[in-house]
Amino acid sequence: MNQIVLTGFMGAGKSTVGKILAQELVLPLIDIDTEIEVKHQTSITEIFANLGESVFRNIEHQMLVSALSRDAIISTGGGIILSKDNRIQLGTANFVVYLKTSPSTFLNRLKGDTTRPLIQEKSKEEITALFESRTELYEEVADLILETDNLTPVEVAKIIKQDFQKRRE
Ligand code: S3P
Repeated sequence: MNQIVLTGFMGAGKSTVGKILAQELVLPLIDIDTEIEVKHQTSITEIFANLGESVFRNIEHQMLVSALSRDAIISTGGGIILSKDNRIQLGTANFVVYLKTSPSTFLNRLKGDTTRPLIQEKSKEEITALFESRTELYEEVADLILETDNLTPVEVAKIIKQDFQKRRE
């Protein structure tokens, strides 16, 4: 399939890189968080607050399954790898890229963020611990692990595009 799935922690640049890749490869962009917000006519914050994380995770799972049936650039939320079912689904995906960022990079990008419920009122240490608890899972499902700390989004997209095209030759 003509499909690239972007994973990584919050602040890894999945949405930004996804937009560039979608333009470059002329594929639709499916940003799972955005799709959820549009379909449910509300924000991720409101879904967490009113329905709870487990309902959000169920919705997220359904969105992932539906996205994986299409040729597209798929930008996932940072917690997509938490569920075993999702990891099995990602195992069937064509090309899964883990955008790996170090704590100093994502902490810097997440400073002042009010849109991500899991990091509100959390210390830097707590956010880093959350990242560390997930690292293995991101790596488990990845076909490509790309360290992005010293790269611009355009550079990241270029590397992914080249790798993707090489695999298709
Ligand atoms: C989450 C990441 C968010 C969003 C939700 C939960 C997570 O997406 O799905 O707030 O568990 O890491 P981004 O990675 O796009 O911020």
